Amino acid sequence: MLVVETVGKLQTFLAEARASGKSIGLVPTMGALHRGHASLVEQSVKDNDITVVSVFVNPTQFNDKGDLECYPRTLDADCRLLESLDADCVFAPSVEEVYPEPDTRVFEFPPLDKVMEGIYRPGHFNGVAQIVSKLFMYIEPTRAYFGEKDFQQLAIIREMVRQLDLNLEIVGCPIVRETDGLALSSRNALLTPRQRNVSLVISKVLFTSVDYSKSHSLADTKRMVEQAIDSTKGLKLEYYEIVDGATLQRVESWDETDYIMGCITVYCGKVRLIDNIRYK
Ligand code: PAF
Repeated sequence: MLVVETVGKLQTFLAEARASGKSIGLVPTMGALHRGHASLVEQSVKDNDITVVSVFVNPTQFNDKGDLECYPRTLDADCRLLESLDADCVFAPSVEEVYPEPDTRVFEFPPLDKVMEGIYRPGHFNGVAQIVSKLFMYIEPTRAYFGEKDFQQLAIIREMVRQLDLNLEIVGCPIVRETDGLALSSRNALLTPRQRNVSLVISKVLFTSVDYSKSHSLADTKRMVEQAIDSTKGLKLEYYEIVDGATLQRVESWDETDYIMGCITVYCGKVRLIDNIRYK
């Protein structure tokens, strides 16, 4: 497995692959890899001749400096995992390599970026679009893989590909959970054992709410989830939204559309955790 830090070396490696007509899978990550990332890499290795994994903690998508500083960085362990998964190349550039000058591009994805994370993390999706569009330009992948845990991000990346008319397939991969239900996230490493225990309530209440929704209104189901989080010591709800899975806009009743998702963000101490569940 090749590990490269510059766009030049990455493109030299890919030029050979491209010349021989090989398909290229890209798995963009910010490192601190876990089984969720591993599932994306495994899918890419299955689908493509070459798999490139980018490991880059992208500063432009962090609206909170403290969050950027605390973000776990574990490149050596990440490379060991990627080697065992048969990835072909790790692209781990410096900030200066990716942003030799400030990226002033402004992306808009209305109405997808005007809700949920778009409200609570202003500028976040613009930063995601900046880095992901650069990775797409450097690598020109045949397919790119993203986790469904970041449900809104996945919808926005699909929209970016549509807007920019890019010729690649975006593959969404299912959430990977701990056996007790907690959605895997690099941020889980920041939880104390006590917080880790409390954080379980998030996935538990989401699962319970699917059954609950069968005999209750959407408003009652939303309230049930909100109350369960609010009444748990150690958790602080940022938002719980029940939305149309395609437009990400709020829905008021279960009959409004046939694709409905619940999206939640909760603080467990200082650690911000997100999760989602499909109702129909
Ligand atoms: O989902 C992530 O880890 C990041 O937002 C991504 C897509 C790698 C862009 O930095």
